[in-house]
Amino acid sequence: MNGHGENFIQALKSISERVDRALDQWLPLPDVHASGRLNEAVRYSAMAGGKRIRPALCLMIAESKGEQSEAALRAGCAFELIHAYSLIHDDLPAMDDDDYRRGKPTNHKVFGEAVAILAGDSLLTLAFAWFAGLVQHGITADKTVEILALAAQAAGHAGMVGGQMLDLTYEHRETDLLTLETIHRQKTGALIKAPMRTGAILAAFEPDECRIIENFAEKIGLLFQIKDDLLDVEGDLSQLGKQAGRDAALGKTTFPGLLGLQPARDYARKTLEEAHELLQKLNRPLPLLADMADYFYYRQK
Ligand code: IPE
Ligand code: IPE
Ligand code: MG
Ligand code: MG
Ligand code: MG
Repeated sequence: MNGHGENFIQALKSISERVDRALDQWLPLPDVHASGRLNEAVRYSAMAGGKRIRPALCLMIAESKGEQSEAALRAGCAFELIHAYSLIHDDLPAMDDDDYRRGKPTNHKVFGEAVAILAGDSLLTLAFAWFAGLVQHGITADKTVEILALAAQAAGHAGMVGGQMLDLTYEHRETDLLTLETIHRQKTGALIKAPMRTGAILAAFEPDECRIIENFAEKIGLLFQIKDDLLDVEGDLSQLGKQAGRDAALGKTTFPGLLGLQPARDYARKTLEEAHELLQKLNRPLPLLADMADYFYYRQK
């Protein structure tokens, strides 16, 4: 462990430019029809300038053998659509009731709740259309179905949606570390792991390497949400682009809430170290993954 993920940050910059260009090109245009407003809401959230972590994870692994891949870009962007949908719904008054996201008013604040719900629905379904379209970009039908299935699992009741349900269920309730880890693995970890697994499938990694990458993805997925919890305590609106202190206000079950601030930081550190240890098991080194883990630990937004 040396830097703070500088190489990852560098690679993320060029990937996020590719993602922005692709989304602008591929997303439906607002038009004069009734759905024009829906498409505007879809673009508002998908193009709102997120960090683009999920497509980056997919692309960095898929392209780790050297070549740029249109299919990996499509798959990575599809995960970003699922992520954008999850955030629109997460911010709704019925869920976290948040007014700011990525430094701008949340989708429902601009378009109203009904359109925000539909924009989320639209992003989710569009993502699956893009996954299915991988067969038109040189990916075999078998691999395409494998990716479709893993994306569905990561997004749905066994993944993000199930985690969001647990997150709501455990508001204002006592919990233990195991339950908290389960919430975080599901609501956030699942959609970190899925793009990495997809990258590994697209790059035809050996089963042994795939397993190590999956275990690593589990660790950094958890780390990502521990850090999100910490930033909610330590950050502010101008830094994060979203209101801080919301977890405490909503009675969420979080790492700093359960363990205390310094032990939560220590837990994040331990999780980072475990992630690095997993990478030692790879036959050929993937230094960008080590940097990725460092970035997840050190990020300030
Ligand atoms: C925020 O995700 C929601 C969580 C799952 C913690 P990100 O921190 O990746 O959000 P953006 O896409 O960069 O805004
Ligand atoms: C969000 O967790 C996880 C999602 C599935 C969107 P949070 O509710 O902590 O995410 P933020 O802090 O609002 O981005
Ligand atoms: Mg939430
Ligand atoms: Mg939230
Ligand atoms: Mg949060």
